[in-house]
Amino acid sequence: MEQISLNINGTECQVAVEPQWTLLRALREGLRLTGTKCGCETGDCGACMVIIDGAAVRSCLVRAVKLSGKRIETIEGLAEGNRLHPIQQAFVDAGAVQCGFCIPGMIMSAKALLDKNPSPAEEQVREAIDPNLCRCTGYEKIVEAILLAAARMRGEG
Ligand code: FES
Ligand code: FES
Repeated sequence: MEQISLNINGTECQVAVEPQWTLLRALREGLRLTGTKCGCETGDCGACMVIIDGAAVRSCLVRAVKLSGKRIETIEGLAEGNRLHPIQQAFVDAGAVQCGFCIPGMIMSAKALLDKNPSPAEEQVREAIDPNLCRCTGYEKIVEAILLAAARMRGEG
């Protein structure tokens, strides 16, 4: 095991990892940050999506030891105390959550998009969540939720 430091949600976190561990494993097993979900571990489902230096990244595809000095955001960093992030609140309000397994990854993809583009077209929302699979919802409510969040974050909702 090797001790490394990762900047997660604005805090430097010390974590012991094996050299081959993915960021996903370091988050879930090393740091017990289990909001990031483990689906396929082959880059196909998007359940493990986090944001690294502003870009949505599948955490099962990157090795943790490569990430010192990078700014990593996970779903745990979004709510402020009991107050949900506007994207999280919009998912609730739009009825976009069914089993919930895909939702942390969806929300991180949505956040990466809205951080860069506060007024996305529906097509851009669909593109941003293209790597994220959902087995429950049919995506319509999810797209609706992201557009609702965008409007609210622009002060229009
Ligand atoms: Fe990473 Fe499925 S667990 S893409
Ligand atoms: Fe169940 Fe998306 S809500 S997989």
